[in-house]
Amino acid sequence: MINFTYHSPTKVIFGRQTEETVGDEIVKFGGQKVLIHYGGQSAQKSGLLDRIRGSLKNAGLRYVELGGVQPNPRLALVREGIALSRREGVDFFLAVGGGSVIDSAKAIAYGVSHDFDVWDLFCGKRAASKCAPIGVVLTIAASGSETSYSSVITDGDTKLKRSYNDDIARPKFAVMNPELTFTLPPYQTACGIVDILMHTMERYFTNIRHAELTDRIAEGLMVTVLENGRRVMKRPEDYDARAELMWAGSLSHNGLTGTGRTGDFAAHQIEHELSGMFEVAHGAGLAALWGSWARYVCRHDAARFARFAVEVMGCKMNYHDPEQTAMEGIEALERYFTDIGMPISIPQLGIGEISDAQIEEMAEKCTFYGKRTVGQFVKLEKTGIMEIYKLAAGKPIG
Ligand code: NZQ
Ligand code: ZN
Repeated sequence: MINFTYHSPTKVIFGRQTEETVGDEIVKFGGQKVLIHYGGQSAQKSGLLDRIRGSLKNAGLRYVELGGVQPNPRLALVREGIALSRREGVDFFLAVGGGSVIDSAKAIAYGVSHDFDVWDLFCGKRAASKCAPIGVVLTIAASGSETSYSSVITDGDTKLKRSYNDDIARPKFAVMNPELTFTLPPYQTACGIVDILMHTMERYFTNIRHAELTDRIAEGLMVTVLENGRRVMKRPEDYDARAELMWAGSLSHNGLTGTGRTGDFAAHQIEHELSGMFEVAHGAGLAALWGSWARYVCRHDAARFARFAVEVMGCKMNYHDPEQTAMEGIEALERYFTDIGMPISIPQLGIGEISDAQIEEMAEKCTFYGKRTVGQFVKLEKTGIMEIYKLAAGKPIG
């Protein structure tokens, strides 16, 4: 086990009707003028926004609103949010939605706290010294952004999707009512299941040994997500199953399942280029790429993949041939993705043929034009990343 700092300061308010407490929570954290930030139409249609407005009014808070956050949230709206918040004297940022809305709110909260262009953070040109306070009302179990230190923003002009990570942007509180996720379309629910699994898998495939407690927490989380994922796909209004997923989503990405070891996150980095360029949902992009990443790196530590196969996917260990067990685990997870309606290849994403030139462009962007390798379990350079995209696209490699 390696040294670690575990910092998860977000206050979690979990359960039915908890959104009614949001105004009081903002007051406790010192907010006076709030920006209510939300997405396309789901929170309006369900009546959630009205309930939030009511809660803020009851708590004596003033507020302005900015909706229209789209999946893979855009820099242009972040800049609009920064200008609006400055004009209006906003001092607290309330994200009502999923990862896209939360990440956009984090970026706005960074932006109002500095006098340089916020994109400089995401490009690695500057570091943040502060971030205005953020609260969350979560409507989809997926990204874990409600407790994470990340914000992921896309520049619509260059199609660059970049993240900025700093503990100072972890939300002050996250209100999580699993009932709010009943209205999710099945595809979005499934994308969320994939993303939650992947946040723990990215930390599970590691070269660090002896993080046994972390391993067992991770395996328990993944099994819980697999089982309850099947339940919610069949019964979208199964409160308990939705609750398990929602709580797992937060714990999967708040750092807990990575304590004492280094994570990998290659699949995430490779996926971000795909969703930045082709507008695919992040979870679907991960499902489409993961099997190709896994087959590409499996031999590096077949025993680790075999443990995943046995402990998480329920495969039988073949002691004569652990590599075979490893492969069975990869195939079992792909079957699961297929069962819940997720793609397991790029063609299944429905974005048409992707060219060799586009694959090379994504691989170049992913390595920051040769300035970094991607992943820790196996460090990938441009050639390796291209091979993974090609495997996922069904193109010949080598
Ligand atoms: O815009 P509306 O109308 O609200 O519709 C949204 C959106 O179309 C819909 N939705 C959300 N809650 C709903 C609902 N529809 C009906 N009922 C509800 N209760 O779902 C769609 C997707 O929303 P989005 O916020 O994009 O989903 P998600 O939470 O999966 O977030 C994805 C974004 O988070 C980033 C991803 O890259 C992507 O940009 N990530 C952020 C991370 C972080 N900050 O820590 C980590 C992740 O790895 C990820 O990269
Ligand atoms: Zn993710």
